[in-house]
Amino acid sequence: METKIFTKATVKEAAKLIQAGELVAFPTETVYGLGADATNEVAAANVYKAKGRPSDNPLIVTVADVATVERFAIITPAARKLMDKFWPGSLTIILPLKPGALNMTVTGGLHTAAFRNPANETTLALIRAAGTPIVGPSANLSGKPSPTTAQHVMHDMNGRIAGILDDGPTTVGVESTIIDMSTDQPAILRPGAIDEEMLKPVIGEVQTDKHHVGANETPKAPGMKYKHYAPDAQVVIVDHEADFAAALAWAKASGKDFGLLATDGILQKYGQDLPTYSLGSDITSATRDLFAGLRYFDLHPQVEMVLAEGFPARGLGEAYMNRIEKSAGGMHFSADARA
Ligand code: TXA
Ligand code: MG
Repeated sequence: METKIFTKATVKEAAKLIQAGELVAFPTETVYGLGADATNEVAAANVYKAKGRPSDNPLIVTVADVATVERFAIITPAARKLMDKFWPGSLTIILPLKPGALNMTVTGGLHTAAFRNPANETTLALIRAAGTPIVGPSANLSGKPSPTTAQHVMHDMNGRIAGILDDGPTTVGVESTIIDMSTDQPAILRPGAIDEEMLKPVIGEVQTDKHHVGANETPKAPGMKYKHYAPDAQVVIVDHEADFAAALAWAKASGKDFGLLATDGILQKYGQDLPTYSLGSDITSATRDLFAGLRYFDLHPQVEMVLAEGFPARGLGEAYMNRIEKSAGGMHFSADARA
């Protein structure tokens, strides 16, 4: 299958493919998604196939308006407040479904579903033109970092899907915050750009699920049990700028080929003669460019280890650290603990 590129100007052609049950990747403000008609069970099944994704991991339903959510789910007053305040935007809301409203392939057999209204006009136009909500998992192969450009999608999905709607690089860079509004106590299941401090004034106390699930446990956000964002090289997080000199000495002594994934100040000081990828200047650019950086090092297989900059886990920093922790398998450099 030839994977065609579409743009804002050719949204209607892309929408026709969605209507025909084909797969079309689409831009959002967070990462690119893999779209298919959410009401077409065969199309949804093909999304799992294209991604190589386990079928018990349910798909997000991407909508252009709140009215579409009402067709499928029960919107509680608190959930409605969140939609009023944050949609379109990087907040995915889990709601109880109306019985039989969505097929089992999309829901993974759950009685809830996750709804998302992305802040991207081209994709909202795609959904409106298709006349149907679309499923929207991240458009990467399972186990690879989420794609933040159409080129990343092409790298993973060329020949596997009918098209890619290219709207340039995404702006946020990590996936949406997921909040579970299907239980008595709202809970954040995945941190993203919309953080706890932004949610609290709208709906009050919010739980953060920091529990790590075991392989035999049924997780609340099923995606949590799978290893994510694992690049080929070992990622080691360096939490403090003051530790970079010691981390470099340690990496050199290991005899491994290593690279640096960090903001410009650190690269200027320590990046000479090393493979580097810039995370820009601050936590906002670092979050935006993180997945592109991890993919960059995958394209340079001689690099066996990547020293990556850590940030305080507050606000957007919590979302950044959540992703880099997964890619590092939790490995941090500590100047005190080095051998
Ligand atoms: O920013 C985003 O959310 C991107 C863009 C493309 O919209 N999409 C995305 O989808 O990250 P995905 O499938 O890669 O991640 C969605 C997560 C998965 O871990 C899945 O297990 C969880 O949401 N999820 C989906 N439906 C759920 C449900 N009913 N209950 C709990 N977790 C659910
Ligand atoms: Mg994903």
